[in-house]
Amino acid sequence: MAKKTYDLLFKLLLIGDSGVGKTCVLFRFSDDAFNTTFISTIGHGEVAQGMLCPEELTFMLISEIILKLGEKSEERRKNIPDRGNSHEKVLGIDFKIKTVELQGKKIKLQIWDTAGQERFHTITTSYYRGAMGIMLVYDITNGKSFENISKWLRNIDEHANEDVERMLLGNKCDMDDKRVVPKGKGEQIAREHGIRFFETSAKANINIEKAFLTLAEDILRKTPVKEPNSENVDISSGGGVTGWKSKCC
Ligand code: GTP
Repeated sequence: MAKKTYDLLFKLLLIGDSGVGKTCVLFRFSDDAFNTTFISTIGHGEVAQGMLCPEELTFMLISEIILKLGEKSEERRKNIPDRGNSHEKVLGIDFKIKTVELQGKKIKLQIWDTAGQERFHTITTSYYRGAMGIMLVYDITNGKSFENISKWLRNIDEHANEDVERMLLGNKCDMDDKRVVPKGKGEQIAREHGIRFFETSAKANINIEKAFLTLAEDILRKTPVKEPNSENVDISSGGGVTGWKSKCC
């Protein structure tokens, strides 16, 4: 059997209105890139190395379908002027993996990127349950995306685990000249809901890594310490502080 190359698996989810920059935030973190054409690099290498468990392989297959459909839609998307040729999550969901090291532990972050459009609501909310951390993104140049935060928070309450770690991101902070949401408003709503807040820019690479690592640290803090002679890594498929148990690997 393939040797596991990580100590813990954390499943994260990106949500928020369409166009706020969720995919770009993820790409900046996973590939240190801000690009317009989406080419998945996740999966192939890991499958070849036998690093993935059946659950992840299923995710991979879904992802492959998503990407194949995505290639086709890419051409169509290039003709939509206001969206450029940014990635379209054809089935409403996609993911990337990045392994980080925190407190001497190798933590594999499986980060699910959802489509913000309402038509994907059913499929995307079905991913909330397995998430240990959720990043709720709005666009500081788009007032509607900020107003919708309460709707997204309600979705989390309805569909995610009670003790999921939440974080609020005000993205596109490189566009201060087009800002319509003051930073103070983001801070205030985050304070009201007891969640962390960062203003980020996927384009200018501001606070992206910090946000992901902080979220991972917060999850790590409430992850039960592994018993010295327990065989399985105690990872979450979405059960909260005491119930985070891996069904996988
Ligand atoms: P959906 O998949 O429809 O839910 O959208 P999304 O939230 O994933 O948005 P996406 O990452 O596709 O980005 C939308 C647009 O915003 C693209 O044209 C990006 O180039 C742009 N964008 C994303 N992040 C930033 C940023 O930090 N700064 C600036 N200036 N533009 C950004």
